[in-house]
Amino acid sequence: MSINPEIAKRRTFAIVSHPDAGKTTITEKFLWFGKVIREAGHVRAKANRSYTVSDWMKIEQDRGISVSSSVLNFPFEGCWFNLVDTPGHQDFCEDTYRALTAVDSALVLIDSVNGVEKQTIKLMDVCRMRHTPIITFINKMDLDGRSVLDLIDQIESVLKIKAIPFTLPIGVGKLFKGVYCIADNTFNVYNAQSGHQEILQMSGPDDPKLVELCGENWVNQFREEYDVVTGGMDPFNHELFLKGEMCPVFFGSAVTGFGVRQLLNAFADLAPAPMPRETDKRTVDPSESDFSGFVFKIQANMDPKHRDRTAFIRICSGQFQRGDKVYHVRSERDVRLAAPTAFLAKDKEVIDTAWAGDIVGINDPGLFHIGDTLTKGEKMSFSGIPDFAPEYFARVTLLNPLKSKQLAKGLKELTEEGATQLYQPFKSAIPVIGVVGELQFDVLKFRLMSEYGADVSLDRIPSFGVRWIVGDPAEVEKFVTDNGGDCMRDKEERFVCLFPNEYRLTLAVKNYPELKFVETSLG
Ligand code: G4P
Repeated sequence: MSINPEIAKRRTFAIVSHPDAGKTTITEKFLWFGKVIREAGHVRAKANRSYTVSDWMKIEQDRGISVSSSVLNFPFEGCWFNLVDTPGHQDFCEDTYRALTAVDSALVLIDSVNGVEKQTIKLMDVCRMRHTPIITFINKMDLDGRSVLDLIDQIESVLKIKAIPFTLPIGVGKLFKGVYCIADNTFNVYNAQSGHQEILQMSGPDDPKLVELCGENWVNQFREEYDVVTGGMDPFNHELFLKGEMCPVFFGSAVTGFGVRQLLNAFADLAPAPMPRETDKRTVDPSESDFSGFVFKIQANMDPKHRDRTAFIRICSGQFQRGDKVYHVRSERDVRLAAPTAFLAKDKEVIDTAWAGDIVGINDPGLFHIGDTLTKGEKMSFSGIPDFAPEYFARVTLLNPLKSKQLAKGLKELTEEGATQLYQPFKSAIPVIGVVGELQFDVLKFRLMSEYGADVSLDRIPSFGVRWIVGDPAEVEKFVTDNGGDCMRDKEERFVCLFPNEYRLTLAVKNYPELKFVETSLG
């Protein structure tokens, strides 16, 4: 099927990084290169905590961090970019993981000083599971960071992906001179003051002009690295890139915008347009004329004056027109999508048309769940939107027993949004919640009180983690009988076990060889 040009120009991606690697800074530069903002510095003012990209909730402002993911759009070089934000604080949540199910590629952003860090490793696991194509940017080259070869080696050994440098830096820190582009033998001169990027043609890495520009020592080091990189490494292979097995690597400095244009060009040239997606019935091609999509995120109360919920839909095929009627597969009902919105932080903008690859927000009257499929009438469901095992757990005790209805409603609605998971233990009436990042406890407590009037205490349960129990029903039943104290049901009535420590998990794996104890609900 030939791809519709509107769809072919879509690039829907997310940023995978550890807090402080420069995600906000580089996002701001993207918007600047896309001419969405006039001045870099407009989007964020973290220092005075007044306005960050997705400051939707009061708690976000109080904590000065962004809690929920948003979607930003910008044009660049004939492409239309949808950047799905991934909450990046160390208290990141399940939304961060789920954002990766809505994208076609990802930017892995690495701090040159700290190298590959914990959160990046976790998010990369999700990318690997989904075979997401990755482009890597090593940031903060204006600081004294790790050596180039060390960073490449870390990407390969820790992130488990073949890394192919497309540029190589010359100099580092205060003596950072610029980057050499391997494909076209150009040298991009770094100017810390102006941020201006001058591009000079070289005859090759041995061009004597490089020594004049950068000094002999730095050039000698660069030539050694160049030889290692071009001599010993595999050539770039686009097929392997599309399978998520090989990634191009760029170096730069987001704060000055240096290297960011090359990076965006790489996304435009290499990253895939929306790709076919699997459903339980068949593969859906993005160029099919009929609209289809799935809900990957639900966000409540973005506007505190209205108790509304917004469902974020990733469009997988066709074109979507404002006011269209679509079929909600799970409830087997038609719904009219009256006012779909595109997002730039607090400014919602009603849109008339959207295409496969785009993400739209629609008003949710309480109908949608994470993972729901919308079609033009076909009964099928997109696969691959799992729940991810939370890492922190707490019992939810209601402090005012008269509010039990409000608590039940609040827990149901807030857990449907997907940032928190709700479990019912076998041997206790007190519900347990699980979150991927600890901040979600604060968010949940705050929202239960402010939106539902339910004051709760959240009593932490020290534990190793939760696993879904998968296998023959009789075996699962046996496990649950033997280990009832640790067993719970999730919102879909699936069995999970909350292991108090790693040893108990190891023991379970050993004693119940027919069962699988898995970290995502899809196994
Ligand atoms: P995040 O969203 O990934 O958490 O990171 P963010 O962009 O907020 O960047 C974290 C810190 O790193 C910021 O400094 C930012 O200015 C700095 N930074 C980002 N890119 C570069 C770079 O290329 N070079 C250098 N030297 N620093 C960079 P901060 O002191 O925390 O905040 P601010 O006072 O600068 O706003």
